[in-house]
Amino acid sequence: MSNEPGSNGETPSGRHAGRVAIVTGAGSGIGRAVAELLVREGGSVVAADLSDDRLAWCRDAERVDVKRIAAAAVDVTHADANEVLVSLADESFGGLDAVVLNAGVAVSGSIEMLEMNQFDRAVDVNVRAVALGIRAALPAFRERGGGAVAITASTSGQRGDPGMWAYNATKAAVINLARSAALDLGAEDIRVNVVCPGPTITGMTERLQDAPAAFEALRRRTARQKWATADEVAAVFGFLVSPEAAAVTGAVINADGGISANTGQFLPPERST
Ligand SMILES: NC(=O)c1ccc[n+]([C@@H]2O[C@H](COP(=O)([O-])OP(=O)(O)OC[C@H]3O[C@@H](n4cnc5c(N)ncnc54)[C@H](O)[C@@H]3O)[C@@H](O)[C@H]2O)c1
Repeated sequence: MSNEPGSNGETPSGRHAGRVAIVTGAGSGIGRAVAELLVREGGSVVAADLSDDRLAWCRDAERVDVKRIAAAAVDVTHADANEVLVSLADESFGGLDAVVLNAGVAVSGSIEMLEMNQFDRAVDVNVRAVALGIRAALPAFRERGGGAVAITASTSGQRGDPGMWAYNATKAAVINLARSAALDLGAEDIRVNVVCPGPTITGMTERLQDAPAAFEALRRRTARQKWATADEVAAVFGFLVSPEAAAVTGAVINADGGISANTGQFLPPERST
């Protein structure tokens, strides 16, 4: 479908022209920013999230070329949901080049007190759904002769955070899931990479944005001395799922404003502006 006209009647151009991607967790935050970026750069996107309401932006012709976005309300922890997304990519746009497996849930609570069903849900969304998403995409990638997977982990998957053992364990797991999958699939030109955001303004961090002390503590630990926007993080995904990233696989890329560069012993200098 590379020459499918957009809603303005023009042939899409840009880095993602003619390419098709699935983006999960596309109703909000980083996922939505990635979906918008891919469409803006000429691609077509199947945008998946839990409800139609969260995906209402996909029908906003003022905001997005609605002909190049198909919304799907699914829970990606189910295997059949992932297969539905791949079928939708094929039926709507003629194939699949990339999957951005970004849906995630944050859980916090002590190792003693956190309800184990919350841990199980975090494992299901943050790890199991990623395995299912890769598995479902493989036949479609093979038809294209290759494909790109980009997964949202977190700097929290690289070290510990107080009260966040469950979330951090899932994000650590998905990092090694991706590395191993990259090794399994590389010879088929299927690339698998991970992006680790740090503090980013999204729906997930709304609670922190309303808690000035916590918001400020995270900001001060970044090298940039500021939270990232979802668009800034999305730009990294835009590169990773593009043909420009042909040599990049099995990589874990921090898009975290430098928070993971800090040992945590000292606070970096403040901004002057
Ligand atoms: N915001 C941050 O500071 C930050 C930092 C590091 C990593 N992350 C990761 O970034 C990813 C995106 O989160 P965000 O910050 O944009 O948060 P967000 O809450 O704005 O977006 C996450 C989206 O995922 C969707 N989702 C959750 N479970 C789902 C499921 N089972 N099926 C389909 N959709 C589902 C939610 O409905 C939501 O719209 C997550 O994996 C998160 O862990 C975020």
